Amino acid sequence: MPRRSPVVVLVAALALFACGGGDGTPTTTTLRPGTSTTTTSSPPTGATTSTTLPPAGFGAPGIGDPYFPNLGNGGFDVEHYLIETTVDPETGEITRGETTITATATAGLAGFYLDFRSLEVLEVAVDGATAVHEADGADLRITPTSPIAAGEEFVVRVRYRGTPGQTRLPGLGLASGWIITPEEVYVVAEPDGAHTWFPGSDHPADKATFTIVTTVPEPFAVVSNGTLAGETHSDGMATFVWEMDDPMATYLATIVVAELESVDRTGLEGIEIRDHLPADLAAEDPRPLQRTAEWIEFFETWFGPYPFASYGHVVVSGFGAALESQTMSVMDRAALVDVTVIHELAHQWFGDSVSIATWQDIWLNEGFATFAEFLWIEDQLGRDAMEADIEGRHAFMKRHSHRPISDPGVDELFGSAVYQRGGLTLHALRVKVGDDVMRDILRTYVARYTGANASTEDFIAVAEDIAARDLSVFFDAWLYESELPPLP
Ligand code: ARG
Ligand code: ZN
Repeated sequence: MPRRSPVVVLVAALALFACGGGDGTPTTTTLRPGTSTTTTSSPPTGATTSTTLPPAGFGAPGIGDPYFPNLGNGGFDVEHYLIETTVDPETGEITRGETTITATATAGLAGFYLDFRSLEVLEVAVDGATAVHEADGADLRITPTSPIAAGEEFVVRVRYRGTPGQTRLPGLGLASGWIITPEEVYVVAEPDGAHTWFPGSDHPADKATFTIVTTVPEPFAVVSNGTLAGETHSDGMATFVWEMDDPMATYLATIVVAELESVDRTGLEGIEIRDHLPADLAAEDPRPLQRTAEWIEFFETWFGPYPFASYGHVVVSGFGAALESQTMSVMDRAALVDVTVIHELAHQWFGDSVSIATWQDIWLNEGFATFAEFLWIEDQLGRDAMEADIEGRHAFMKRHSHRPISDPGVDELFGSAVYQRGGLTLHALRVKVGDDVMRDILRTYVARYTGANASTEDFIAVAEDIAARDLSVFFDAWLYESELPPLP
């Protein structure tokens, strides 16, 4: 069977790699000796609920996520984060941290919680007045000098310092949070690592815009989300100001502190494409990074317009995978392969622009990025190659019993079912409704929820709406039952 060439097998193998441990193989994370001792390992981070009940009139210490009950916060919505840090690249310490949160109260608040763990808090101020603060599990409990009225905008400033720890997903070897290697210090925070380096409402349901200001010693550079709005140098220190003007989930906020060179790519109208690479890679210019503009154009034919003003990759070492940080995917050197590059690109539509409503909906991120791999394989290698790849993944899933992907469980949040069965579900939908309707479903889903959040039920509603038919039997079988349906 000549079409089932080693290329296809290779693509499938790389695709499994792209899952970052999704095939069940633990990903090795090489950290600088000594730093691993700062790691906060299991218990599952979702279990680190606040130890005391909230005092009367306080917002809830969690936003109500079924898997991470303590993430996010009740009683307010964040509009903007200003995160200012000075980072020592040698030790990984935040020697000066200040996060200023602009939020609107959704209820009258005698006080409220922020997600924040493991750093030394020097001062908390609400609307300029010093407020009482206490650590409560992975939360900071804040009591302003006077209550905040419902509907009122308020500003919280937290000053802090220290070396962030990490969170770790039970059942997977992946670290989340602040990573220190001999070459760099950087953040990959999915799902719950953001509150290790800045205080906030650490849940995708509370998206906000960001200004990220980072000071480092020369010659280190800082790469973050959005556009570089300013760079100043004085006394051997460099400060980089990055602006993310589109709403972003906290886990997608990143900084990478490293010695990096910028590589500009041929852009697309209105989209700036720039990668940030260590010198050896900038000289080599890895092939998988050369075709971003072409691949954005290809995905636009399926998903609709690219949802942001810029895109790029920043290449690091030491975590063995990749993360779709908004407009700036963080790629491990070992993840610089075509399929991972396109997987993270697809996440800009699915996960970043359209964010999940709760972590239970994770297949809306990973299943869609996997489906995008199928589309790309078809485009590059042809229909037969895509079908061979899909058959391989279906056979793999058939051998591994798993929970329904509408409720994979926190232990299997990034398990292979979420990725592979998620992608297969969308392929089966494509076959059922045809290419034209499938494109219309995907584009309508993105257009309707861009900059916002969607749940599994929201996606089903769009699909039924556009296909103009009841799809409950189909979605029940693929999403809500354990038994894997046959390929169409
Ligand atoms: N969403 C990533 C992907 O593209 C997986 C990230 C897992 N989390 C982490 N902290 N490494 O598949
Ligand atoms: Zn992914």
